[in-house]
Amino acid sequence: MMSTMAKRVVLVLALFLAVISIEAGSLARGGSSVSSSTHLHFYFHDKVSKPSPSSVQVMNPVDPSSPSFFGGMRVMDNSLTEGSEPKSRPVGRAQGLYMGSDQAKLGFFQAMNLVLTDGPYNGSVVAVLGRNSPLDDVREMPVIGGTGAFRFARGYAQARTHTIDVATGDAVVEYNIYIQH
Ligand SMILES: *[C@@H]1O[C@H](CO)[C@@H](O)[C@H](O)[C@H]1NC(C)=O
Repeated sequence: MMSTMAKRVVLVLALFLAVISIEAGSLARGGSSVSSSTHLHFYFHDKVSKPSPSSVQVMNPVDPSSPSFFGGMRVMDNSLTEGSEPKSRPVGRAQGLYMGSDQAKLGFFQAMNLVLTDGPYNGSVVAVLGRNSPLDDVREMPVIGGTGAFRFARGYAQARTHTIDVATGDAVVEYNIYIQH
């Protein structure tokens, strides 16, 4: 049987070790346990038309006559720019895929790495995975992680179609991303 005194010593020691492990955790996050919030804003260029499309269809939908695009898939390496014009300052690339995963209407499963190439976030990546129903006004997708400045990232992305060229299918999409990291 431990004495009451010995039990107290063990309890104090356990609390002390718990504090140390919390400190070590915050050191691993860069010396601070305070997280920051970042808002990113840019335009995404889904260029499907020739020449040099940045978004290519790699699988055909099950029923090409259906507007749902179910079973179809595109792989993209789309440019991200500061302004809405394609020639606007480049800030990164959206690399990943979107596929039709809704049988009833147009609804994508979208998975992409936003590879940032400008400013303080140059070299950092934000990973987004979610549902994108491109005919809705605002589509929200979760931010599921990141690298570099965005380690431990979580948050959400909001996508709004800025322009769509019905003749070519090329679309410009405005993105607002809110990240805690
Ligand atoms: C981003 O970082 C790369 C690698 O360090 C560098 O070559 C490039 O010039 C940087 N781009 C900008 C716009 O600062």
